[in-house]
Amino acid sequence: MSWREDAKKRAALEAVKNIEDGFVIGLGSGSTVAYAISEIGRRIKEENLRILGVPTSYKTFLLAVECGIPLTTLNEHPELDLDIDGADQVDKELNLIKGMGGALTREKIVASASKALIIIVDETKLTTSLGKDQPLPVEVLPFALPLVMDKIKRMGGKPKLRERKDGSGPYVTDNGNFILDVDFDIIKEPRSLDADLKRIPGVIETGLFIGMAEKAYVGTKTDVKILKK
Ligand code: 5RP
Repeated sequence: MSWREDAKKRAALEAVKNIEDGFVIGLGSGSTVAYAISEIGRRIKEENLRILGVPTSYKTFLLAVECGIPLTTLNEHPELDLDIDGADQVDKELNLIKGMGGALTREKIVASASKALIIIVDETKLTTSLGKDQPLPVEVLPFALPLVMDKIKRMGGKPKLRERKDGSGPYVTDNGNFILDVDFDIIKEPRSLDADLKRIPGVIETGLFIGMAEKAYVGTKTDVKILKK
């Protein structure tokens, strides 16, 4: 296992210790969360942990089922005790860029329904400035694509339509939408950028998670650091 995979796994395992019996939890998406999901499955089997999970993507849904995690919905549980998710960038105030895995909209909905959001990352995700060497994923209604791209360009962003890895066409989210990966360079005012983007008709959601995370478990080469807001 590479040091990064090892760091991701250690961060995930530490974060899962926050889950208590009876919790209803949000299950984020991505390769780091996958370690958390299998650890939750282990705790269910070996420690008789009783929890319910709300998945943020079909991929997470399938993995959670495979790991024996009982699932629920926001209809049944509109308030969650805890949400554990990954991130693509984390600044020192625990503001985040998320969405390279394409699940940003459901992830933000689930995070907003949770009493606490814990982020799990390896240390390469830490940044001094959001947007530095990192595009901002923005989920867009396909019908509105050209208009949204034009408006984003006028705001100073360089939008690029995300393609499927096999080159067979645009990447489509679990919600049937497209993703624009937008280069804004360093994002000085993330909160107002998020609000400005959300005002464009056809923008479903942005990958800026501002003031939402309470703690971040950061896997380093040797240990796990806990960052608090
Ligand atoms: C998906 C996400 C992921 O949490 C983010 O991309 C991090 O993924 P990974 O743990 O694989 O690096 O936001 O929409």
